[in-house]
Amino acid sequence: MTVPEVTQNAARSTDPTLVYQPQADTALLIDALDECSPAGARVLDLCTGSGAIAAAAAARGALEVVAVDMCPHAVRAAAALAPSGVSWSAIRADVSDFVDDAGFDLVTCNPPYVPAPDTPDLCPSPVGPAHAWDAGPDGRAVLDRLCARAEELLRPHGRLLLVQSALAAPYRTRELLEARGFRTSVLRERRVPFGPVLRARQRWLIDHGLLSPQDDAETLTVLLAERPGRQR
Ligand SMILES: C[S@@+](CC[C@H](N)C(=O)[O-])C[C@H]1O[C@@H](n2cnc3c(N)ncnc32)[C@H](O)[C@@H]1O
Repeated sequence: MTVPEVTQNAARSTDPTLVYQPQADTALLIDALDECSPAGARVLDLCTGSGAIAAAAAARGALEVVAVDMCPHAVRAAAALAPSGVSWSAIRADVSDFVDDAGFDLVTCNPPYVPAPDTPDLCPSPVGPAHAWDAGPDGRAVLDRLCARAEELLRPHGRLLLVQSALAAPYRTRELLEARGFRTSVLRERRVPFGPVLRARQRWLIDHGLLSPQDDAETLTVLLAERPGRQR
């Protein structure tokens, strides 16, 4: 899959030691965006990093885009991407406590999802590369919070589009959302070779039953979840 131009621009404008550079997961989510009617929508991009996904939503006609990240470097990078003709804001906040009263038509998120040894449930420092991918022993530290917040962030019939690794149990994401009445589906799946982070912790992942010794690639999944309408 080729990396979209907007993604390349986002990567060029950020320091790779401070802000996550758009990668295969970023590109896979962007590839699925058109199936979520971003045109005319009010869009929230959680865990925005460089702002690449937020910018892709704007390029597809979103009316308003709010880019949120806990890392101040990411917020600065996303703020700098502001396209013309779109209401654009970049806000520093945690997935757990970002508040918005109006609700969004579409929430996008490429959260940290890599199972990580020797880390607390959430990375204590809001900056630094590990914060972009380490997500506790089961990889679900941010995913579980996202599932818990989806309903209050979305308007009725609003959509959540997220990407994650098979190492962090996509079935669990679907279970959590379906328990709240969301309809879920898989929009994309792609095998990608291990990068340096997974290669470095391959032994730990095998020891914890998350990988088999023959594995040299992980499956990325893009999930779509639609919030139910209002109850009568
Ligand atoms: C995998 S990167 C994704 C960046 C970008 N969306 C992309 O796809 O290229 C995850 C991002 O989530 C941010 N992050 C991690 N934990 C967070 C939290 N609890 N609340 C908000 N942002 C968080 C990190 O700072 C990082 O920028």
